[in-house]
Amino acid sequence: MTSSTVPWRATVLTLFPEMFPGPLGHALSGRALAADRWSLVARDIRDFATGRHRSVDDTPFGGGAGMVLRPDVVDAAIADAADDRPLVYLTPRGRPLTQDIARRIAAGPGVVALCGRYEGIDQRVIEARAMQEISIGDYVLAGGELAAMVLLDACVRLLPGVMGTAASADEESFADGLLEYPHYTRPALWEGHAVPEVLTSGNHAAIAAWRLEQSRQITQHRRPDLYNQYIASGAHAP
Ligand code: ADE
Repeated sequence: MTSSTVPWRATVLTLFPEMFPGPLGHALSGRALAADRWSLVARDIRDFATGRHRSVDDTPFGGGAGMVLRPDVVDAAIADAADDRPLVYLTPRGRPLTQDIARRIAAGPGVVALCGRYEGIDQRVIEARAMQEISIGDYVLAGGELAAMVLLDACVRLLPGVMGTAASADEESFADGLLEYPHYTRPALWEGHAVPEVLTSGNHAAIAAWRLEQSRQITQHRRPDLYNQYIASGAHAP
């Protein structure tokens, strides 16, 4: 394989490798996986446990509820996977996942995604391995596996040749900092509701202007944080 045909590689470090590929084995990401546009290895963190009891976790120093993943076990799992790919630890304490982060990771050689369970992972290995901590939202999941799937899905659909039409990636939500405009298809009249007239006018400039205005209004209403960023970026200026 030449470097341009080496697929984007994902390794997931997890206590539940049987959860993968799961939904990633279907639809767009599943077809891309079958077509070798990307590869996926799910490694069982438990395989790297040593000692008499082969335990992966222990009670927290300082007391408190739950269990903490041991740094030696996590480090061995990382050592086995580590190469030039970024190492991402999925945790609700991380920086929020954005389209920009997905774009950056998709543009690289792949990712090593570490999934936590229990109360979390010993802080020392997070620092020693300089992990990028990423959250998929302000809520707590039972583990990082679903978050890793979300991250991988967001990256894989951006890989070259994965999406049918390049234009659909450019026009969708977040591509220009705005949420997407509404879509309509046949029938033109459904249960008494007509589609907006401009969309059937054939006037492409008017359609583009209408869509942009819809995007602006929806973003301003639902996501004032994004809208303010959009205004501040100057992207709205002619
Ligand atoms: N693990 C548990 N909750 C999470 C979240 N919101 N994002 C990423 N990883 C998680």
